[in-house]
Amino acid sequence: MQAWITLIVWIVISLWPVLGQTLPDTNPSTSEADLAEGREFYLGHCAECHGRDGEGGRGINLTTGQYRLSRTDADLLRLIQKGIPGTEMPRSRLVVADLWKVVAYVRSLARAGASERASGNPEAGEQVYERMACTTCHVVGREGSSLGPDLSDIGLRRSVKFLRDSLLDPSAYIPRNYPTVVVTARDGKQIKGIRLNEDDFTIQVRDIFENLHAYRKSELRQVQAPKESLMPAYGSLLSEKEIEDLVAYLNTLRESP
Ligand code: HEC
Ligand code: HEC
Repeated sequence: MQAWITLIVWIVISLWPVLGQTLPDTNPSTSEADLAEGREFYLGHCAECHGRDGEGGRGINLTTGQYRLSRTDADLLRLIQKGIPGTEMPRSRLVVADLWKVVAYVRSLARAGASERASGNPEAGEQVYERMACTTCHVVGREGSSLGPDLSDIGLRRSVKFLRDSLLDPSAYIPRNYPTVVVTARDGKQIKGIRLNEDDFTIQVRDIFENLHAYRKSELRQVQAPKESLMPAYGSLLSEKEIEDLVAYLNTLRESP
C-alpha cells in the first residue's frame, strides 16, 4: 500500500513541470462572468500597484496592450504567476483557473483604453528634453547617463497621467530601486545620490555626476534617506505647454532598453 502511494506521489511530482507547462496559448476563460471574476481578483491583488483601471502607479501601465515581456495569453499568465524577480512585481498565489480570468481582465483593460492620450507635440517635446538636459540623468536608446531610470520604453511602462505627475512632482513616487541618499563625511562634506548597496558597515552611492563612492560607515558622520527625488520638479521651470509636449515625447518612447 505504502509503495503504491509513494509511486503515485512520485509520478505526480515528476510530471508536475510538464503538466504545468501545457497551457493553451489562448485564454479558455473569456466569458462575461469570467471577466467579472477576473476584475474582482484584479482589484484585490493588482490594483494597489497597477491602478484601478490599469493606468499604473507603483506598477506599470497595463492599458497599452503591448507588454514588454509577454506576447501570448499563456506568456502573460506565467508572468503573473511567477512575478518578475528583482522588481516589485510579486508572484501570484492564485490558481491557474483564476489566473486565466485575471489575464482576460488585463487584456480588457487595454481594449478599454482607459489611459488618456497625449495631447502635446512630441517633436517640440523632444527639443524640450534636450534643452533641459534630461540626458544628464536619463538614458534614451544609447544617449545619456544612468543616474535615473532608463526612459527608452517609458511610453510603454507609464501612463500619460503618470508621466505628467513625474515631471510636476517627482517626489510623489520614487521607484524602490532609486532611493535618494545624503551622506555626510566626518569633515562635513556632503554627497547626494542614489543608494546602490548598503549593509551594516558599508554603503555605496552613485552621485549626480555618475561617480561611484564606497564608504565605511565608521568614516561617516551621518547617512540620511530623504523622501525627496534627486530629480527637479519641472512645474516652475517649464510652461504648461512645454510639460504637455514633453509628456507626448516620453509617450512615444517604446523601444526595449
Ligand atoms: C507590489 C506591486 C505590484 C503588484 C501587487 C502587482 N504588480 Fe504587476 N508589476 C509591478 C511592477 C513594478 C512591474 C514592472 C516590473 C519591471 O520593472 O519590469 C509589474 C509588471 C507587470 C506586468 C508586465 C507587463 C509587461 O510589460 O510585460 C504585468 C502583465 C503585470 N505586472 C500584471 C500584474 C497583475 C495581473 C497583478 C495582480 C495579480 C500584478 N501585476 C500585481 C508591480 C506590481
Ligand atoms: C538630477 C537628475 C535628474 C534630472 C536632471 C532629471 N531626472 Fe528624471 N528622474 C531622476 C531620478 C533619480 C528618478 C527616479 C526617482 C523618481 O521617480 O523621482 C527620475 C524619474 C523620472 C521619471 C519616472 C520614471 C519611472 O520609471 O517612473 C520620468 C518620466 C523622468 N524622470 C523624466 C525626466 C525628464 C523628462 C527630465 C528632463 C526634463 C528629467 N527626468 C530630469 C533624475 C533626474
